[in-house]
Amino acid sequence: MAGRLAGKVAVITGGASGIGEATARLFASEGAHVLIADRDASRGPWVASEIGEAARFVQTDVRFGEDVQGMFAAADEAWGRIDVIYNNAGVGGDEGNVRDCPEDRYNLISDVNIRGVWLGMKYGIPHLERAGGGSIIVTASIAAITGVAGVAAYCASKGAVVAMVRAAAGEWASKHIRINCICPGSISTGQGSRSEEQIEQSRQYFANYNPVGRSGEPIDIANAALFLASDASSLITGQKLVVDGGWTSLDARYVEVMGKRFP
Ligand SMILES: NC(=O)c1ccc[n+]([C@@H]2O[C@H](COP(=O)([O-])OP(=O)(O)OC[C@H]3O[C@@H](n4cnc5c(N)ncnc54)[C@H](O)[C@@H]3O)[C@@H](O)[C@H]2O)c1
Repeated sequence: MAGRLAGKVAVITGGASGIGEATARLFASEGAHVLIADRDASRGPWVASEIGEAARFVQTDVRFGEDVQGMFAAADEAWGRIDVIYNNAGVGGDEGNVRDCPEDRYNLISDVNIRGVWLGMKYGIPHLERAGGGSIIVTASIAAITGVAGVAAYCASKGAVVAMVRAAAGEWASKHIRINCICPGSISTGQGSRSEEQIEQSRQYFANYNPVGRSGEPIDIANAALFLASDASSLITGQKLVVDGGWTSLDARYVEVMGKRFP
């Protein structure tokens, strides 16, 4: 099949919904085989079956090394190589401020968002080495760039993976393994167990305050991931690609005080 990822094999964590699902669908439409790895064993298989022959699902909890090794083994067994690893699974954003966030919630956020990404690199890199190189992508967040009061644990986890990406990119560049992250702004997904009503409220809010005049959708991040996965980004490593409709370039308080000033 022709396409920007023709012949490539991609492993996508958190691929059962939201950003990961949109990316799995897009990657497959660009010619890739995709292994959807997610802890959600009801939606994940459905997404894989929707995509068809090019996709498989493996139930995976990215907090556990055995699971992560298993997802890579499944992709390798199915298609004989791995070229792209998208460490996208993440939780958080609803944990409360530093005083109120329970310790076990902090631990979960840290384990999924940091340890899960580290395991995805640790056990994925040998596969990319065998393929002669490849691309690792991580979903960070604008929470790594600007303070988001009320979700300090989430912010810390996303800041950590931006730092991890920089260091790991330096380690593996000579082996033709590129490692980058994407920092999404607000994207209309169910992240943090948001209801459809909450998603719509958020969509409206960001339509008013994002400089581009709309909120982010999962396909916006999938498109960024496609670029980083493809050979079109072959000179790019160790970077964070901000996809936020201009949110972090603007002081939202200015919009509040001065009124909406977009032409
Ligand atoms: N939606 C946003 O506004 C936004 C903004 C910035 C960053 N992000 C990040 O984008 C990524 C994807 O989130 P989303 O918005 O698509 O939300 P989502 O909840 O739709 O998707 C997250 C997926 O990760 C899976 N997952 C959670 N814990 C897991 C685990 N331990 N092992 C395996 N899978 C697990 C979930 O089952 C789910 O399918 C996350 O890393 C999130 O932090 C989202």
